[in-house]
Amino acid sequence: MIAGAIHILRLGRAGFVFAREGVLGLVDPQALPPPARLGLRLARFIERRGTGTRSDRLTAALTRLGPTYVKLGQFLSTRPDVVGATIARDLESLQDKVPPFDQKLAEQIVVETLGMPIAEAYASFGPPIAAASIAQVHKATVRDGEVLRDVAVKILRPHVADRFRADLSDYYFAARLAEKLVPDSRRLKPIGIVDTLARSMAIELDLRLEAAAASEMAERTRDDPGFRVPSVDWNRTGRNVLTTEWIDGLKLGDRAGLDAAGIDPRALGQIVIQSFLRHALRDGFFHADMHQGNLFADRAGNLVAVDFGIMGRIGPKERRFLAEILLGFITKHYRRVAEVHFEAGYVPAHHSVDEFAQAIRAIGEPIHSRTADQISMAKLLSLLFEVTAIFDMKTRTELILLQKTMVVVEGVARSLDPRLDIWTSSEPVVREWITRNLGPVGRIEEVGAGAKLVGRIVGEAPALLGRAAMLSERIDDLTKDGFVLAPESLKGIGEAEARRNRSSTVALWIIAALLAANLIWG
Ligand SMILES: Nc1ncnc2c1ncn2[C@@H]1O[C@H](COP(=O)(O)OP(=O)(O)O)[C@@H](O)[C@H]1O
Ligand SMILES: [Mg+2]
Repeated sequence: MIAGAIHILRLGRAGFVFAREGVLGLVDPQALPPPARLGLRLARFIERRGTGTRSDRLTAALTRLGPTYVKLGQFLSTRPDVVGATIARDLESLQDKVPPFDQKLAEQIVVETLGMPIAEAYASFGPPIAAASIAQVHKATVRDGEVLRDVAVKILRPHVADRFRADLSDYYFAARLAEKLVPDSRRLKPIGIVDTLARSMAIELDLRLEAAAASEMAERTRDDPGFRVPSVDWNRTGRNVLTTEWIDGLKLGDRAGLDAAGIDPRALGQIVIQSFLRHALRDGFFHADMHQGNLFADRAGNLVAVDFGIMGRIGPKERRFLAEILLGFITKHYRRVAEVHFEAGYVPAHHSVDEFAQAIRAIGEPIHSRTADQISMAKLLSLLFEVTAIFDMKTRTELILLQKTMVVVEGVARSLDPRLDIWTSSEPVVREWITRNLGPVGRIEEVGAGAKLVGRIVGEAPALLGRAAMLSERIDDLTKDGFVLAPESLKGIGEAEARRNRSSTVALWIIAALLAANLIWG
């Protein structure tokens, strides 16, 4: 009872800040039941004068409310199905710049976490160079025999974990209340949303887990051309402290610096796209916060990523789904795109496949009148998710995270090279991937000529695929799972090859690779 009252008080304060900063003015009254509309009108009386743009207002309110709310905002920017497409977009630019905390305090956290005096851990320990709501970063040096090595030391903000715990319990309270009182809200699974937020927070609040993500990424990308991640110094890493190799490079947003260093922005743009695709396609494990602030170019022109707090993982089923829909769009088999959604169980069966296909055609057709440098894979997916929401598609968070990251990645790459053609940039990655995984490239090209993909791969690459019996079981499983390779999709590959349309051929390669990956490891 008392706990409930505390939650209500704390949430009431948050409501007040939202009202004060003008956030309630962003809510569409039509979307609310009549009594709530009245409440909304009343609440707007306390609005501060001179509130800024939509996203300024949101940023002001969330920053005032603290790091959990900032995180909630960043998280909801990936959930247009919950907050609507406009607010999701407003939240995208949400940055959490806050003043750094005290140097003494930072040093104290280092001492407590590492269990040794600061002078023993580091030869020198500088002031903070960056501060955000969860952590701040200091530059320090480490003695390695005779030499001094520069390192970056990320330190968790004091008490941030307690604060998260308290705020999250408010969110759980609100979510439970919503599910109880507003039956309509159950479709959005508010409790599930808070669960997901809590899980991702738990990862961000333990820097050993960020260290592990950096280390996993380093291992997977060891031989990747043009891309690397800083190495982790595990001896100087704990729950509240993460020490990594210092990256002496230029931020990707520093165009003048890049030019002065003689780094080719176009080549760098390609590396950005190619690295992202390679990680998503090959590893199903990608950096999900690839904005310019987390990306450097080193002296040799390599892309170096930092900040592994948010990572994406996509399983074989989602990769396959993605492949089928992209394939359907490119070959204009809109009905097939629609069917895939039903087969995967993403769209409830009571909807009409034909109507869904019609909506998908509305997204797909305009793409075919554009030139390659105007086509955005991210935009395509975002439109698709908007349509699928109308058809009650269950949200696939990992796919939305992939799509959101794609928006950022395309943005960074196009800021380096405005004429970037996303399909041709992707080609070398896909070619390499196919060669490594499927042997001679020719096999897939034969598939491209319209042959049956499953038959070809099973029949012609036995060494690679292992025992045929096991494989056919796998394929049975796939089919049970609701995924069937549609003959018309395969025909589509052949047709596009025949038209010799470069962009779509490349795109089809990507898709063939995705499909093949999932057939083998699905
Ligand atoms: N290894 C590193 N070398 C050089 N600078 C770094 C390194 N790691 C982080 N930084 C700098 O510190 C900033 C904040 O670190 P980051 O890990 O991105 O923290 P946050 O999670 O708060 O965004 C980065 O944008 C970058 O400028
Ligand atoms: Mg960062």
